[in-house]
Amino acid sequence: MSSLFLTSYCMRYTPSAWHLGMGDMQIMPGSRHRPPMKRPMWIIVLVSLVSMLLICAYVYPPRSHSACYVFSSRGCKAFTDWLPPIPAREYTDAEIASRVVIKEILSMPPTQSRNPKLAFMFLTRGSLPFEMLWDKFFHGHEGRFSVYVHASKERPIHVSRYFVNQDIHSEKVIWGKISMVDAEKRLLAHALKDPDNQHFVLLSDSCVPLYKFDHVYNYLMYTNISYVDSFEDPGPHGNGRYSEHMLPEIEMSDFRKGAQWFSMKRQHALIVMADNLYYSKFKDYCKPGLEGRNCIADEHYLPTFFHIIDPGGIANWSVTHVDWSEAKWHPKSYRAQDVNFELLKNITSIDVSVHVTSDERKERQVRPCLWNGMQRPCYLFARKFYPEAVDNLMFLFSNYPTI
Ligand SMILES: *[C@@H]1O[C@H](CO)[C@@H](O)[C@H](O)[C@H]1NC(C)=O
Ligand SMILES: *[C@@H]1O[C@H](CO)[C@@H](O)[C@H](O)[C@H]1NC(C)=O
Ligand SMILES: *[C@@H]1O[C@H](CO)[C@@H](O)[C@H](O)[C@H]1NC(C)=O
Repeated sequence: MSSLFLTSYCMRYTPSAWHLGMGDMQIMPGSRHRPPMKRPMWIIVLVSLVSMLLICAYVYPPRSHSACYVFSSRGCKAFTDWLPPIPAREYTDAEIASRVVIKEILSMPPTQSRNPKLAFMFLTRGSLPFEMLWDKFFHGHEGRFSVYVHASKERPIHVSRYFVNQDIHSEKVIWGKISMVDAEKRLLAHALKDPDNQHFVLLSDSCVPLYKFDHVYNYLMYTNISYVDSFEDPGPHGNGRYSEHMLPEIEMSDFRKGAQWFSMKRQHALIVMADNLYYSKFKDYCKPGLEGRNCIADEHYLPTFFHIIDPGGIANWSVTHVDWSEAKWHPKSYRAQDVNFELLKNITSIDVSVHVTSDERKERQVRPCLWNGMQRPCYLFARKFYPEAVDNLMFLFSNYPTI
């Protein structure tokens, strides 16, 4: 029964090996005429079947668990481990080079720092409406964080000492284009210069913190993954933006979507710096209006990149909350009157991540938010708030010990 099973397995997946086997069978009858070897035909057939099976099993090791039971469930892992892995296709030179660098960076032990810091990277147009709220958030925690501001439109006027002189060189950012990703990379590069920075958070000018500093620090510093939002959307706003020019390195089945507001550990930030291969694919083939598609580089590059190179190393959700429930072109923005303790309580009690596909099925993908394997609330920051909400936020932040 088991040989029959594997023979059909071979026939389905390895036509060339099957023909090889048939060839062997045709040669075998010749040896039958040697006098000492007179044996019934069935032994020869059996022997050739068994050798075919072995050749087949060697060249095409069973990779699914259903095929494994032939070799017993315990022997299976060792058996497949012993065989070289077979890639689905041959990697390009650029891919081999890229993978070897990424693998090396991922296998390095994290750099030890006696004074680990969180890097807060603000991607803004100009001045930050919530700078005084952040000032309150940072106060008393000097030495455990760094601040970087990339202002793409006008030079910000800073009102908090934590932000003064923290502007980095900036360039114009065009919505949807790779210049948005370039600004993110510029922030990462500047933040990486400080070896104490161990975790890197990207924030916008409409983002606010949901907790006190210590909570955010412990959540991000003691996690073993990066919070990069990433999900598969078969609809027009997901795979509909994919271009076959991204082949062979990026197949449609690897194309992902996610919000740009990430937080990542140092190794992942380094990998983003090291990548040129996947980056250039998005630079050239993911932009608004290209071949009738509206591809938004910052919504697809990092979600796809991490899905390909380190899928288990990212959470697949972002620690920055945003409310898309109104299903409009823009997310819900909170006015002063919307901001109260109940709103913040609601946001900070969410402990599942929800993604909705953009096809007609509108499938809701709901997953628990796991922090080092434990289910915990997902969000540390939230957007989008109108500047007028600042007073209410400052009041809540000062008066509620839990926030
Ligand atoms: C994120 O999603 C990928 C599939 O795209 C999965 O392999 C990975 O385990 C997920 N990460 C976590 C932390 O669950
Ligand atoms: C908080 O959540 C409850 C239950 O989902 C909802 O009824 C209420 O309107 C929410 N409040 C705010 C301020 O969002
Ligand atoms: C992170 O920690 C959890 C719980 O210990 C573990 O299950 C998971 O595999 C770890 N992930 C990585 C990428 O190390």
